Amino acid sequence: MLILAIDTSCDETAVAVTSGRRIISNVIYSQSLLHKKWGGVVPSLAKRAHEERIDWVVDESLKKAKTAMGKIDAVSVTYGPGLAMALEVGINKAKELSMKYNKKIIPVNHMEGHIYSCFGQNRNGNPKLSFNFPYLALLISGGHTELVLFKNHIYYEILGSTIDDAAGEALDKAAKMLDLGYPGGEVIESLASEVNNKDLYNFPRPMIKKDTLNFSFSGLKTSFYYFLKKENKEKAEKVKELASSFQEAVFDTLLFKTKKAIELTKINRLLVGGGVSANLYLRRKIRKLVGDYKGSVIFPSFKYLTGDNAAMIGIVASYKAKKDIFVKDINKLERVPRLKLSDSY
Ligand code: KG4
Ligand code: ZN
Repeated sequence: MLILAIDTSCDETAVAVTSGRRIISNVIYSQSLLHKKWGGVVPSLAKRAHEERIDWVVDESLKKAKTAMGKIDAVSVTYGPGLAMALEVGINKAKELSMKYNKKIIPVNHMEGHIYSCFGQNRNGNPKLSFNFPYLALLISGGHTELVLFKNHIYYEILGSTIDDAAGEALDKAAKMLDLGYPGGEVIESLASEVNNKDLYNFPRPMIKKDTLNFSFSGLKTSFYYFLKKENKEKAEKVKELASSFQEAVFDTLLFKTKKAIELTKINRLLVGGGVSANLYLRRKIRKLVGDYKGSVIFPSFKYLTGDNAAMIGIVASYKAKKDIFVKDINKLERVPRLKLSDSY
């Protein structure tokens, strides 16, 4: 089944053509340069940029897949969570294509996409991983931080999530305070590695004493802010150590809660997705953790599958199609900016 998938949930205009887990084409038109000078995503700018680019991205994706709309079996689209104004552009495009070419629409939750991104394959069907349910999924992106019990295809239970900032958002905010630009996760990773990921300042590890799998990063951000204010002189000299210590506090917290989730659920098979999962230092830490529990971990096999993309949406859609999950009345398909994994279609 050939699927054309669309994701415009945040600041990437993304369209892919997929067949099952195989990614035939994957086109991402990033807006990050557009939002850079504002230090974060501006919804109205995102909407306009999506509108200007979506047709080109759809055409490019079909062209790269050497196919055409006539040969596509279904259209899938992210309908939440994300920025309302941005989601709308993708949904409208999906509806337009669905009507014009008489294709069914498969609705997908963006976070389901980040889970299934771990199983993405190239067009030759590699890597050949098989599913071995249940899994614990750690989803770490700029908008979300969640621990999810992935029981079976399209069947999830949220075990914990952030009560304020997401892990990636915390890294982005710290980078902003250090004048490192936006987004900040990747810069922080490379600065931290230059000082061997040293934890010089030992910033607070939020919520690790609380008996819950929820996360919180806003206290850490505040303490970082006041520390920088107080130590203004030191800041200029110790940017790498500051970045590294902040990253360590975020990752320690992620690791601590993941460990707790493994112990509570007795599940030692992990999936890790979302932009922050691109971080190689974090990957090493997680591999070590699952090793301690004789478990295993799967990260997205290709870097483009860690951040936002539409291929992961197409992959989910293929499993939804098997369960006959299609939009019944396309006029009723609407964006759900705060969509939860537990209330998916
Ligand atoms: O999944 P994603 O592309 O978009 C959202 O759905 O939010 O995640 C973006 C986040 C940003 O916060 C960015 O700083 C972070 O992922 N990120 C990283 C790395 N690359 C991207 N964080 C840590 N290390 C990285 N290498
Ligand atoms: Zn995302």
